[in-house]
Amino acid sequence: MSNTAQIILEGKTYEMPVFEGTEGEKAIDIGKLRDQSSYITLDSGYKNTGATKSAITFLDGELGILSYRGYPIEQLAEKSTFLEVAYLLIFGELPTTEQFATFKTNITRRTLVNEDMRKIFDGFPVNAHPMGVLGALSSALAVFYPSQIDPNKDKAETELHIVRLLAKLPTIAAWAYKNSQGHPLNYPKNKLGYCENFLNMMFAMPTEEYDIDPDIVDALDKLLILHADHEQNCSTSTVRLAGSSQVSLYSAISAGISSLWGPLHGGANQEVIEMLEEIIADGGNVEKYVAKAKDKNDSFRLMGFGHRVYKNFDPRAKIIKVSCDKVLKKLGINDPALEVAKKLEEAALTDPYFIERKLYPNVDFYSGIIYRALGIPTNMFTVMFALGRLPGWIAQWKEMREENQPIGRPRQIYTGYTKRDYKDIGTR
Ligand code: ACO
Repeated sequence: MSNTAQIILEGKTYEMPVFEGTEGEKAIDIGKLRDQSSYITLDSGYKNTGATKSAITFLDGELGILSYRGYPIEQLAEKSTFLEVAYLLIFGELPTTEQFATFKTNITRRTLVNEDMRKIFDGFPVNAHPMGVLGALSSALAVFYPSQIDPNKDKAETELHIVRLLAKLPTIAAWAYKNSQGHPLNYPKNKLGYCENFLNMMFAMPTEEYDIDPDIVDALDKLLILHADHEQNCSTSTVRLAGSSQVSLYSAISAGISSLWGPLHGGANQEVIEMLEEIIADGGNVEKYVAKAKDKNDSFRLMGFGHRVYKNFDPRAKIIKVSCDKVLKKLGINDPALEVAKKLEEAALTDPYFIERKLYPNVDFYSGIIYRALGIPTNMFTVMFALGRLPGWIAQWKEMREENQPIGRPRQIYTGYTKRDYKDIGTR
């Protein structure tokens, strides 16, 4: 392959370096184009812009491939655990038995949240959406643990912040839910595993032992693995961009949480269930909603359908669909939403509108149904996504800082007024 690309502008040729990744993806490095030609490239929504090189996650949207650090998502979902995957993403290799034991113990011992942080919950309205509370409280961690760390110099402290985040976010998440219900908060229990502890904080009565179903723990762990990273998506790019100013890791993660909340991103899993419920309440007429989604005069979209990069199938959706059937069967749940979801998928996948636009179910299409079967309330779905995505955000932040990447600062093409004179109406 030639190692330069030629860009011809106003008759002049500019040579730009070409870069090829380990999986054969190719890019033109236009970093110096503006200096040499005064042109910038314009790409609204970054549809064709690589913001970074990264060695963490690979995905091929055409072939439906997703791997973390080279390991296929299918193998990790079947054989690994969420904490092991978190270690892999953040530190680059699967842990040894000893490394894993230390990592797990360090996390387990930091699950408590400062009691002063707990007081912040009192300031939120009773019905506060847990995602808003999660964003605010993760941001508050930056003032409870203030320090400007450089991952290249302060390795031990960086690891401490990382472990602290992994340990405390489930506690904050469960408390955000309890707060939204007006219920007393449950404290973490160190004898429990990562997912068990979270479920216990969510569902235990303060005075009773809570029976944790291992099938539910298993399904939850798998869901977290499937969400753990997804390269340069909206929230991860937000974490990198915010983190590139060298703000605290907690603040960068909080920015990611806010970005994830939107209905076009992580908020879609809640929207999917609400959409399925709407269809059921409306008599289950799937064709009507497929027609609405196709109607350009109607703002309705099939939530959980379509993806910016997957244009064939989303491998996570495939795994989740199988898991969804299994979990519901095991728990003996007959959820009408699953029937409607399957009908919707079938109708959409045979419709030319969806075929032409390469719109397939994404990770969020079935995840809400499993979460519901596990007893997770709808307003917690996006919070669950955030818990899963946390190691990916951390890994991407760490990689960005370790490589001393410059502050993120896109350019623009100005389209407003050209110079005009101020008209004085006497406000001074
Ligand atoms: N229902 C109906 N039509 C759709 C849908 C949908 N869910 N998604 C895309 N389209 C149509 C668009 O109207 C557009 O049609 P046009 O070419 O005739 O104008 C075409 O497909 C391309 O859509 P874009 O919005 O340009 O695609 P983009 O890559 O910008 O958006 C997105 C991807 C945001 C995921 C979009 O498909 C969507 O809104 N889906 C529903 C929300 C959702 O499920 N989000 C979760 C994504 S996964 C995640 O973030 C974890």
